[in-house]
Amino acid sequence: MPLFKKKQQQELSLSDIVLPEHIGIIMDGNGRWAKKRGLPRSAGHTAGAQTFRKIARYCSDIGIKYLTVYAFSTENWRRPKEEIDALMRLFKDYLQEAIRDFKDDSIVLRFIGDRSAFSPELLSLMNENEEESCDRDGMVLNIAMNYGGRAELVTAIQSIAQQAADGVLKPEEISEALVSDNLYTKGQPDPDLIIRPSGENRTSNFLLWQSAYAEYVIMDVLWPDFTERDLDKALIEFAKRNRRFGGV
Ligand code: IPE
Ligand code: IPE
Ligand code: MG
Repeated sequence: MPLFKKKQQQELSLSDIVLPEHIGIIMDGNGRWAKKRGLPRSAGHTAGAQTFRKIARYCSDIGIKYLTVYAFSTENWRRPKEEIDALMRLFKDYLQEAIRDFKDDSIVLRFIGDRSAFSPELLSLMNENEEESCDRDGMVLNIAMNYGGRAELVTAIQSIAQQAADGVLKPEEISEALVSDNLYTKGQPDPDLIIRPSGENRTSNFLLWQSAYAEYVIMDVLWPDFTERDLDKALIEFAKRNRRFGGV
């Protein structure tokens, strides 16, 4: 076999590549995973929550600075009550343990999305986790709960319009930077890589503004089956992409 071909086929490893600073993951495929096993959808969510713990820790271990995971969208309220109740219970269980769990990894927890829809109990757990972790210096983990990219933009537009109506801002002063500063991800870099397991080729309202130049990696594996090796594969695929940002 010609030498160059051999070289091309050699597996790259993480130590050879530049890692993205910010990864987004659309944690999709829990329901199909459960269905394949004849289990209720909630069993898929329980398995998916375990995968989330494993992958978040792995991202932190390999030095990712920001990880944003899509846990519940503004559209997911359309699901049957039983499934939503199971998801809310899972969030509660997770947040109760996250307070101690991520301490050793120095992970900073943030929640993005409209919190007003959650129970007071869940809300106080979210606040507690953010307060407890805000002084840590490790990976920032954004959990998108009741998050929708369109809703996020509407909230930003309302806030900017209010400032204009109050006379503290002129319409011509509205810039891309100002819009970014009015989003939940204020102060954070845009995602470089967005991974969508389960094979669906759509954004489903995830980080619409922030993903303008993100590289998408769609993978056929269902989220509960997603492993550290799948993340490695996505990182290596990302490293091969030629990002031009409109240039040449
Ligand atoms: C993602 O898995 C989890 C949430 C949206 C909460 P799904 O529940 O969407 O799984 P599929 O897409 O039906 O397989
Ligand atoms: C996106 O997945 C939301 C989350 C993973 C939390 P969905 O399963 O809700 O997306 P669609 O309905 O397939 O677009
Ligand atoms: Mg889905």
